[in-house]
Amino acid sequence: MAVIARQCPDITVTVVDINEQRIAAWNAPNLDNLPIYEPGLAEVVGRARDKNLFFSLKIDKAIQEADIIFIAVNTPTKNYGKGKGMAADLTYVEQCARRISEVATTDKIVVEKSTLPVRTAEAIQTILEQSPHGAQFEVLSNPEFLAEGTAIADLFKSDRVLIGGRSTPNGEQAVQTLVDIYANWIPREKIVTTNVWSSELSKLVSNAFLAQRISSINSISALCEATGADVEEVATAVGKDSRIGNKFLKASVGFGGSCFQKDILNLVYLCQQYGLDEVADYWQGVISINDYQKNRFANLIQQTLFNTVNGKKIGFWGWAFKKDTNDTRESAAIYIADQLLEEGAEIFVYDPKVSLARMQMDLQTLWEYRGETEKEINGKLAKLYSVDSAEAVCTKAHALAVITEWDVFQTQDFETIYTKMEKPAFVFDGRKILNHNHLQSIGFTAYEIGKASED
Ligand code: UDX
Repeated sequence: MAVIARQCPDITVTVVDINEQRIAAWNAPNLDNLPIYEPGLAEVVGRARDKNLFFSLKIDKAIQEADIIFIAVNTPTKNYGKGKGMAADLTYVEQCARRISEVATTDKIVVEKSTLPVRTAEAIQTILEQSPHGAQFEVLSNPEFLAEGTAIADLFKSDRVLIGGRSTPNGEQAVQTLVDIYANWIPREKIVTTNVWSSELSKLVSNAFLAQRISSINSISALCEATGADVEEVATAVGKDSRIGNKFLKASVGFGGSCFQKDILNLVYLCQQYGLDEVADYWQGVISINDYQKNRFANLIQQTLFNTVNGKKIGFWGWAFKKDTNDTRESAAIYIADQLLEEGAEIFVYDPKVSLARMQMDLQTLWEYRGETEKEINGKLAKLYSVDSAEAVCTKAHALAVITEWDVFQTQDFETIYTKMEKPAFVFDGRKILNHNHLQSIGFTAYEIGKASED
């Protein structure tokens, strides 16, 4: 919304939330403490805030005054009832629709920005039509394709903007209104209009295809390690085919983030609902390979450390699901730490943007979901530490694992790090960002995803 405000000075954008603290943080004079860390965001907010961009708790007033309302609330995976662990929880979306319906006295365009399973717009439309004030609503789907860490750049220069609407005169007019807003900075040929369901489905499918590429290359990384090929060379060779392309072919500890797993699970659930079990199984495979990759990495650490990590200190570089973000949702770090803590390891983490409290919360949520007792949880959490530098992680560590590809990790003083670690000093590079010849020349025993070890 901040980018819309920045690019369209004639439009007033009001962002509302029920969370008082969050709104206060968006309004705080110090732009370094915005609720989300995202390169370039502070500048965009700083330029538009209090001119045509406002953050407010006055939800009803904002609803009444708006011509267009974007719903951008969270749609987490359900953790209860039917579809638990797979389907999207639409509670917040429904609450928004009900509130708009109750409060609005004039006609509105309602845009679903949250990623939703197909046909949710229809449900929103039905709720809105119950308006006691007789207001008319047109629901559009306008999914967001930005990636975290590059969100602002992605929004300024999107590959495409997708807008789905009904093929009725009112629907077409509403689509055109939204097209005109984006056309302020996005070339018209990049603005794709479709029917509502195609738009909703395209978002799920885009994420599923992207995640599928990572799982494809990660599956091949296992084969490379077993056979002596180098996954980076394979990815380069394969990606040179312009029909395949070279993006999203970087083998890793496994993908994380708030979207890929959630959206694929949604897709799988949707297919199951329609009795398309083979299609559901096909996409489930992308998740299974991702789980396999995370387990494989944790197993490699354990096996290499002479089959036991009990009482050993393992340093983690990074906890976020990728660099340049403080987001940790579904980060591979959580699952790798889980497995190693279960085996009795002590884990010391350095992440430039993630607090110990966040890491603890991530693990606690996972363990509570699994039904573990408070005693078990506290016992394991006591072995998770956060330290304030990449080097400090390594003091007396038996192994160092690179989990997130923060740039700062590439420029460390590895000679000093080597002297601080227990010997043999093992490095497990889950992101393929370190110079392994250099590490080996210092004396490290270094492993990287997708490359056979030379021992
Ligand atoms: C993704 C989509 O890219 C975006 O279009 C959509 O709107 C939201 O979901 P995001 O989750 O922010 O964005 O990050 P992305 O850059 O896609 O990375 C997702 C995960 O895949 C990260 O854990 C990343 O480290 C991993 N990844 C990505 C790889 O392991 N290898 C790659 O080649 C690319």
